[in-house]
Amino acid sequence: EFRINIAIDGPAGAGKSTVARKVAKALSYVYVDTGAMYRAVTWDMLNLGIEAENEQEVLARMESLEIELIPGEDGQRVRLSGQDVTDDIRSLAVTRTVSRYAQIEGLRAELSSAQRQMALRKGVVMDGRDIGTTVLPDAEVKIFMTATVEERARRRFRELPESGESITLEQLEREIADRDELDRNREVSPLVCAEDATVLDTTRMTIEEVSDAIVRLAERQL
Ligand code: C5P
Repeated sequence: EFRINIAIDGPAGAGKSTVARKVAKALSYVYVDTGAMYRAVTWDMLNLGIEAENEQEVLARMESLEIELIPGEDGQRVRLSGQDVTDDIRSLAVTRTVSRYAQIEGLRAELSSAQRQMALRKGVVMDGRDIGTTVLPDAEVKIFMTATVEERARRRFRELPESGESITLEQLEREIADRDELDRNREVSPLVCAEDATVLDTTRMTIEEVSDAIVRLAERQL
């Protein structure tokens, strides 16, 4: 059976993970959320009080971390050195700091190589910031998903857990814009649209429309 890889990149809150999950399901492929790996590392560093500025310590700590992405019925579970951190890595504390850790070259090199391993046998839908440009430059289908920052903030706002942390829509919009800024301007594999990617502005599209469009692009390659 011939299988391909699908890379989905774009700024925060564009709906990449929801869409990637749907596309993977439609094709019976594996969904890989690379942001979860950066988040898991960040969660661990925050627990240990290792700051992103302290690159040597970050990299030393990385050596003893084992990140596992486990495809499951209700989405992907994330395990860090044996501990399930799926929910923990969605905290505001992690969201606010992850882009600082994601700038560290050695950290990116490690995670990128693990991501490449996961895609070796094809049949993967991978979402992130640098998948089409750096991690899987040979992916058969490359998508760059965007939406206005206002729309992305609204989408994230609707997804916020009912309990616990509270944040206003305006704050969320500012934080998303800040994170995009860091992701777009970092030196190592910044968030940019690959030259050969199909750009989907999803501002006025539904999740179904976006995932159908991607499945159609994939089917043309099969
Ligand atoms: O996708 P998500 O919003 O969970 O990603 C969290 C952060 O992880 C991003 O803002 C970015 O800083 C970093 N990231 C990255 N490269 C990827 C995926 C995520 O730098 N491939």
